[in-house]
Amino acid sequence: MSEIVSALSRALDLTEGQPFGHAARSCVVGMRVAHAVGLEGQDLSDLFYALLLKDAGCTANAAATYNLFRYDDREAKRRLKTVNWSHTASSVRYAASIAAAGQPLPARLAQLLYLARKGTRAAQPMFALRCERGADIIRLLGFPETVAQAVYALDEHFDGAGYPKGLRGQDIPILSRIASLAQTFEVLAVAHGTARAVQMVRRRAGSWFDPALVTALCSFAQDERLLGEIGADPGSDLLAALEPQDHAVYADDAQLDRIAEAFAQVIDAKSPFTYQHSTGVAKVALGIAATLGLPADRVRDVRRAALLHDIGKLGVPNTILDKPDKLTDEEFAVIRRHPAYTVEILGRVDALRGIVEIAGSHHERLDGRGYHRGIALGEQDVAVRLLPVADVYDALTSDRPYRRALPQEQALDIMRRQVGGAFCPDCFAAFEQFLGA
Ligand SMILES: [Fe+2]
Ligand SMILES: [Fe+2]
Repeated sequence: MSEIVSALSRALDLTEGQPFGHAARSCVVGMRVAHAVGLEGQDLSDLFYALLLKDAGCTANAAATYNLFRYDDREAKRRLKTVNWSHTASSVRYAASIAAAGQPLPARLAQLLYLARKGTRAAQPMFALRCERGADIIRLLGFPETVAQAVYALDEHFDGAGYPKGLRGQDIPILSRIASLAQTFEVLAVAHGTARAVQMVRRRAGSWFDPALVTALCSFAQDERLLGEIGADPGSDLLAALEPQDHAVYADDAQLDRIAEAFAQVIDAKSPFTYQHSTGVAKVALGIAATLGLPADRVRDVRRAALLHDIGKLGVPNTILDKPDKLTDEEFAVIRRHPAYTVEILGRVDALRGIVEIAGSHHERLDGRGYHRGIALGEQDVAVRLLPVADVYDALTSDRPYRRALPQEQALDIMRRQVGGAFCPDCFAAFEQFLGA
């Protein structure tokens, strides 16, 4: 389980605008703090997964972040992690620096006025969305309630000025207190070096953080070599060694299906326009695979690949995903990178080896004019050739920022013209048969 979750945590890093490995590094730091304060057994196991999955709710407020600031949600979230946002002057400076940044002056002023009217009331629901959704995803994954509660209270502060409930001191679960300290320290250390980060978290002892935990962190974090030892992107071996062995969690086939379903929800929550896209594509892809008579284990691969195919989209800002106008060439180039991210993330999971090619090729075409590699789908396995059909059908029959959903017949007309160019004729025939049935 640790191998799968640490690989998928990289998708959460992407959404938070953090470099790959942020959650994994926070996990290493947090586990060291836990050992320093004598945490044991099940608590250690729960903390381990809470740290890796702390950002599971990150997509729930991505579109809202974009709407609030009219600015790249990933960059807004990245910057927020380095700001002392419970300090009024710092949070005002933060909001002013990103409100409609890069747009003409009148648009910036309008956005600033809008933010000023909203004031601090805007923050609570944004944090609450993220916390609630994060806890829900942890429950869907089948982890104990303590892990869900740890993620729910991640943004609480020791002095009661955090979110979503304003819990204070020991009322905040110990796992949340450790995770909050570990993630902030990781971000500050990457931005400013270990020594500065130690100073900065010391200054927030008693306000943001539990002072006893800050003391524990400082007992080993003074050393500048700490981050170098952890590495930029800790591999699954390093992380597996941190998981308490007598409480190690193992994933069977049913569990893998549940993980794919839960992450499909994380992916679909990123934009209101992809709401239910992954689950919709999975339904159609499953129908095509079954109609073609693929063996049961391959049908299972197809379904998991369909649920996870757009996981790389978590790296695309909502300024692009939700843009109502035509995309520029540069913006389209960003979109075209998402299947490569999908491959990068899923390729790290041994248990998902069978789905990487299927998921990573969903924008490829029969004639080789697709992306991201431009391979000719004709030479690929039938499981690979069928996913583009399901993906395009769901996209055409759903609302997009620039057009309404098309009726089924109109979508089919458009797609029929692409058979042989974009789509595999056998897969398309099976698709029409499935729809007819
Ligand atoms: Fe896609
Ligand atoms: Fe898609």
